[in-house]
Amino acid sequence: MSFDDLLKAEADVIQACLMDALTDFPNDRITDGMRHALSGGKRLRGFLVIQSAALHGVPRNHAISAAAAIEALHAYSLVHDDLPAMDNDDLRRGQPTVHVKWDEATAILVGDALHALAFELVAKGPLPDTKKLALSHSLAQEAGGRALIRGQNMDIEAETAQTPLSLADIESLQSGKTGALIEWSCAAGAIMAGENPAPMRDYASCLGRAFQIADDILDVTGDERKAGKRLQKDETAGKATFVSHLGLDGAKNKARELVAEALHALTPYNAEADVLRDAARFVISREF
Ligand code: IPE
Ligand code: IPE
Ligand code: MG
Ligand code: MG
Ligand code: MG
Repeated sequence: MSFDDLLKAEADVIQACLMDALTDFPNDRITDGMRHALSGGKRLRGFLVIQSAALHGVPRNHAISAAAAIEALHAYSLVHDDLPAMDNDDLRRGQPTVHVKWDEATAILVGDALHALAFELVAKGPLPDTKKLALSHSLAQEAGGRALIRGQNMDIEAETAQTPLSLADIESLQSGKTGALIEWSCAAGAIMAGENPAPMRDYASCLGRAFQIADDILDVTGDERKAGKRLQKDETAGKATFVSHLGLDGAKNKARELVAEALHALTPYNAEADVLRDAARFVISREF
């Protein structure tokens, strides 16, 4: 199976788990908004959870709930990222954003509910309790004020900063807003297996940065119909990105270097990690 087909097949499995998790939710606009926000997307983070679990010998059924969890958390982060007070976007995954289809109050509550759903999904699977605790502890760390929220705050502050951010600051911003969830996804398999997650974290740190640089490049060169979101917005918004700092070619070179580093980080693993190698190549060649 090609990498693209495998990614799509796993996306369907994750989607089924997410929809199943909503079956006992009330029939109201928040649940409708959650379903809307959970639909579509590449499911790369959930895919990474499943692959890192497979690499560490974790039973597949133990990994699916954790994969759905990270996609619920990611979906929440997108709903809030798109709000008028944040990036003010009207299109996501080819559909109107939640605050456009409903209203801002709904989008805030849908995000809150998806955030909680993520932790419910971590707590729900068949994993032993100690592993669930380790997963939820690390997810709380990555999703909170030290990582994702720190990065989002830096991203918003950069829009109105008097002096442009340094490259080191941009790296820190991106490691937070994007790297954190990708790191958790890759480390999850090792955590579930009770093994040292350090090699996977090294891989993920490079992967996450390459992924966000590719997102910044797509903002300039991508096709809105393929990306399913508005593009050509970062420069006007004053976003601090590798493209704003190094130009397109510089950003492309940096992304390629990071992919090479990500591949190097997988040296301790044999051919079993080939899917993760493909994932590293995918993040910078994707058009969506
Ligand atoms: C978009 O993430 C937000 C960023 C961190 C750049 P994805 O590109 O993974 O979005 P979906 O989940 O496929 O829609
Ligand atoms: C989003 O980054 C990161 C999070 C949602 C945490 P971007 O703002 O660059 O993502 P897009 O371009 O809207 O998908
Ligand atoms: Mg943003
Ligand atoms: Mg955005
Ligand atoms: Mg972007």
